Amino acid sequence: MSQQYNSITSLYMKRRLSSKHVLEKKTVKSIVGPYIKGAKVLELACGFGFYTYDLVDWGADSIVGVDVSSGMLEASRCLAISHGRQISKVQLELGNVFEPTAYPNGPFDIVFGGWMLNYAPDLETLTQTFRNINLNLRPGGLFVGITCPPAKDPESWFSAGDMSLGEPSLIAQLVERVDDGIKLRIKLRNDGDDGFECYYLRQDVHEVAAKAAGLSGQIQWKTTKELNHHDLVDDGSPERKRFIEEMAENWFSAVVISERPMK
Ligand SMILES: C[S@@+](CC[C@H](N)C(=O)[O-])C[C@H]1O[C@@H](n2cnc3c(N)ncnc32)[C@H](O)[C@@H]1O
Repeated sequence: MSQQYNSITSLYMKRRLSSKHVLEKKTVKSIVGPYIKGAKVLELACGFGFYTYDLVDWGADSIVGVDVSSGMLEASRCLAISHGRQISKVQLELGNVFEPTAYPNGPFDIVFGGWMLNYAPDLETLTQTFRNINLNLRPGGLFVGITCPPAKDPESWFSAGDMSLGEPSLIAQLVERVDDGIKLRIKLRNDGDDGFECYYLRQDVHEVAAKAAGLSGQIQWKTTKELNHHDLVDDGSPERKRFIEEMAENWFSAVVISERPMK
């Protein structure tokens, strides 16, 4: 499970970069924006750097990025060099985000995890993940995660969903029901590639885990449809078209826990 991304790094990069994910990135920027200037950021499950170097461009002072896949971290270094991104402010660490670990340069003003919580298989692992967040977040800090939309019954949401956006397209299969939600297999193309496995746990499981881990801030779920990104002008551009398609899909949400009142 932990190294499952090594063999699909380039395919994953291709999908993530070609399908843009305009709405997802705009959402993250709008939430962290008021807090990012000069911030020390911990990015959990940073992958190939889809967010890492943007976090620097948005104003972060430094980033520690952690991922369990050496292939993803290597891809992140290559991407930074080939695209001339600010790698000097970024420190990449190989590690398992489910194990509470005090990372170098902590505690952090912001902990961010894009598509990270959905790898925890159960309440216990999710609680350990939130313990890791709590251990590394300074008092009054901000946690932002991107994950599946909040659901009482992930199976019914999943059955209604369409994840075909992007190239190569995603194929999501139900592997099994587990105590706290469902286990999924996501394939990146339909030609025998194994893809990767992840989980879609219920909303209440996340909320119980965060509290049990000692995070005291209110947990907020910002779902795709509730977000108000109407600042993108309808200019008929491909970016705007993609944005409208993403709005209709409701395929992600932002989980926000602020240990102080939000700006
Ligand atoms: C869907 S990718 C998201 C990567 C990046 N955050 C993004 O938004 O593109 C999931 C990442 O989580 C990493 N991952 C999965 N389980 C992990 C764990 N237990 N510890 C650290 N990284 C993990 C994978 O290696 C992969 O890079």
